[in-house]
Amino acid sequence: MSSAHVAFVGLGYIGLPTAVTMAKHGVKVTGVDVNQNTVDRVNEGKVTIVEPGLEEALKEVVDNGNLTATTEMIHADVYIIAVPTPFKEDHEGDLSYIMSAASNIAPQLQGDELVILESTSPPLTTEKMAAKILELRPDLAAHRDGETSEKPVVYFAHCPERILPGYAMEELITNDRIIGGMSEEATRRATEVYRSFCKGELLGTTATTAELAKLTENSFRDVNIAFANELSLICDKLGVDVWELIELANHHPRVNILQPGPGVGGHCIAVDPWFIVSSDRENSNLIRTAREVNDRKPNWVINKVREAVKDDSVVATLGLAFKANIDDLRESPALNITKQLASDMPSTKILAVEPNVVELPSSLVGTGNIELTNLDDALEQADVIVVLVDHKEFFDVPATKLAGKTVVDTKGLWR
Ligand SMILES: NC(=O)c1ccc[n+]([C@@H]2O[C@H](COP(=O)([O-])OP(=O)(O)OC[C@H]3O[C@@H](n4cnc5c(N)ncnc54)[C@H](O)[C@@H]3O)[C@@H](O)[C@H]2O)c1
Repeated sequence: MSSAHVAFVGLGYIGLPTAVTMAKHGVKVTGVDVNQNTVDRVNEGKVTIVEPGLEEALKEVVDNGNLTATTEMIHADVYIIAVPTPFKEDHEGDLSYIMSAASNIAPQLQGDELVILESTSPPLTTEKMAAKILELRPDLAAHRDGETSEKPVVYFAHCPERILPGYAMEELITNDRIIGGMSEEATRRATEVYRSFCKGELLGTTATTAELAKLTENSFRDVNIAFANELSLICDKLGVDVWELIELANHHPRVNILQPGPGVGGHCIAVDPWFIVSSDRENSNLIRTAREVNDRKPNWVINKVREAVKDDSVVATLGLAFKANIDDLRESPALNITKQLASDMPSTKILAVEPNVVELPSSLVGTGNIELTNLDDALEQADVIVVLVDHKEFFDVPATKLAGKTVVDTKGLWR
């Protein structure tokens, strides 16, 4: 495998760490991204995202020549696509990034290449991507079990990614992976690619099962978090500490309730369940309801803060990222709550504390009443403190610093 040339299409939170990891394991990798700035930075050995261990490893593979980046699509033996898959207004998956990557790959193919889709995708997307490529290249065929083709064949597979941001460099190597080919030979070839760096179990299946498996994992978590979020509202009404309640219930040997929070964000759990819902609206009531419960939680938090704020109050919101110890603000309930509070209460000063960013995110700049500040200043100045993310920096706040302040703690950090 180490002699194959791999093109990574999309050098973001998933593509870059994976490309670097493969290159570190001796594979010749070319990163292809439409963003010139990303490409330039990668070629300089500089990262554009916060991911522990990534920058050192990137420098090493850029210096030894195993990884280069470009905006121009190249010919490779293996293509791994890790481009965004957001959803559209109606919660249908937006496949335009995948189709654009596929269209750029198509002219490069000669036959015998393997195209792996890593982007989290609605069921049947790998088939649609292959169909797009073959529409542009009618001289080629997809490899299928039990079929012989007169034309040169291309192998297609889906291999979803399940790393935890912040632990990418470790989990890329240790996690088990699901590898679903459009034929058994495609699964075998894709398995060989991942074996070059992955020490976890490599679990072969079909492309559509692999697509649904990733969506199922995140929907399971979303439904379980919705259960915890619903409990948090019930507990608030009854004056019960929801974290104590969950801790006690989890002593049951077959109960494992996840933790409530300010809502569910990020690129995965807040998005992926919709791909199942949009693939079968009739039979996905529980999954859709869980999404709606989690999406309503930020409003509940906002109302709690508004009840606590007086005319001259200063509010501190602790955390803007969608989860602990990362800088990723996509689909972040913490960011949205901060923004909504600022627009609902234009005369209230909001101090946003986010240790993982150096400037106020552009979506908060226009509000005029939000300042990015450090934890100590926020604790000193604020009357109302809203814990939105359990970043490590927020754990050890002495109770004396909170005296006389109202705390809305959505993470149970200081209970
Ligand atoms: N971030 C995560 O934690 C995570 C975890 C598991 C799965 N995923 C999935 O992985 C996929 C990628 O997510 P991400 O977080 O890395 O996204 P990202 O936005 O961080 O990176 C995507 C990259 O793709 C590039 N790009 C867009 N269109 C392109 C094209 N046509 N050709 C080449 N490059 C293109 C962008 O410039 C960007 O650099 C998504 O489907 C996501 O759901 C993400």
